[in-house]
Amino acid sequence: MLSVFQCYRFPKPRFQFHLQLCGERERERERERERERERERGEMNTRRVLRLIFALVLAEAISIAQADGLRYGFYSGSCPNAERIIADTIRSHFQSDNTIAAGLLRLHFHDCFVQGCDGSILLDSSTDGSVVEKESTRNKNSVRGFEIIDDAKTRLEASCPGVVSCADIIALAARDSVAITGGLFYGVPTGRLDGKISRGSDADADLPAASFTAAQLKKNFNKKGLGVDDLILLSGGHTLGRAKCAIFSDRLYNFSSPGAPDPSLSSSYLTILKSICPQGAPLPGPTVALDKGSEFKFDNSYYNNLVNGNGLLKSDVVLKDDSETKSLVTSFSANSDKFLWGFVGSMMKMGQIGLKTSQNGEVRLKCNVFNGPGTTTANKQNSYQTNLFSHLVANGINQQSAANLSEGGTPSVQDDNESCKKQF
Ligand code: HEM
Repeated sequence: MLSVFQCYRFPKPRFQFHLQLCGERERERERERERERERERGEMNTRRVLRLIFALVLAEAISIAQADGLRYGFYSGSCPNAERIIADTIRSHFQSDNTIAAGLLRLHFHDCFVQGCDGSILLDSSTDGSVVEKESTRNKNSVRGFEIIDDAKTRLEASCPGVVSCADIIALAARDSVAITGGLFYGVPTGRLDGKISRGSDADADLPAASFTAAQLKKNFNKKGLGVDDLILLSGGHTLGRAKCAIFSDRLYNFSSPGAPDPSLSSSYLTILKSICPQGAPLPGPTVALDKGSEFKFDNSYYNNLVNGNGLLKSDVVLKDDSETKSLVTSFSANSDKFLWGFVGSMMKMGQIGLKTSQNGEVRLKCNVFNGPGTTTANKQNSYQTNLFSHLVANGINQQSAANLSEGGTPSVQDDNESCKKQF
């Protein structure tokens, strides 16, 4: 309106000319408005799609959580500040060492793939004296973050003794690590129990190696109930962190023929890697970012690096060459939202692997040891039952049902999704 009014205010002799000019301006403005409307329609559609994906991820997570007796805000009655205490612990360690996010994310993966998400990776000794998971070939001198989980546990025990499991602390710490480095914050259903078995041989059998082919990786994930899409999405965890020269130096020298490097490496990346890991230098050697140029940011650049010949591990590179997985790699490299949302969905799935029950699990008082000799099996069972009972009552379940449930049934499932509120 204003522009039309302005047009009619031009002096008379120039009226015709300015009318044409204004008409042209008006048409241009109308075209601009139409383009603006188009953009808004596009953004609305994207938001709708994202909302739909979120709803699907949530629905899937809720249904899995229901099936396994986990629930959002499991500690809201028994230890209301649990998630806050863990988040504060992660944040304070992250402020002095921002590499811990990578360590904690990997810790969750290595926990869940061996004996399920049950904190068994944290144990210092096994009941039968055999080598424990953390001492296995795959984990030793490699997996890290134990002291941060211990710190969170100490803070939790001071606030609500014997309530929060170490397995839940790992799952929440991994979630917080993703969020603090720029990934999405997602709700983690809790109520996991800590396992009583830790065997190094299980870790070496169940954890994938960097030398695996695409077929081996798919089989390995499939054994844990995860699909090909989960494999590609979770491998995106390599957007954070580093690997030692020893893990990938075979790609730099004598790979296909004597002296020849892996032909899939870009020449500029090869030069960089050779300078960090010179031939014949003692191994394991220094470390190199898994996601060149973006090791501290949770983003999709890992996939861009794969597509551009800058992938570090052989087990990553094979994913962009395999006929079944290469389209997923390309698609996550092109669409960051698709990766970020998908990653969260796959993390939720991974976080439900092999959960323990009150028959074969407990809430450990210290994360690195089974509950002490003073705590008999019955006491451990009782302490779990007592916690569960008070938790159920605090959440509005009548005392009779709470007693029935804590004696044998699984905890009731509600979707209060308290923890979905953004905390970072
Ligand atoms: C798909 C099969 C996988 C293989 C073969 C693999 C292998 C490896 C290897 C060899 C390292 C370097 C270890 C070292 O130098 O000591 C590493 C690091 C890492 N991995 Fe994986 N990984 C896989 C999947 C995953 C998944 C699913 C996640 C998480 C969702 C993950 C997260 C990480 C992180 C964050 C690091 C860096 C750790 C740090 O800096 O301390 N990995 N991985």
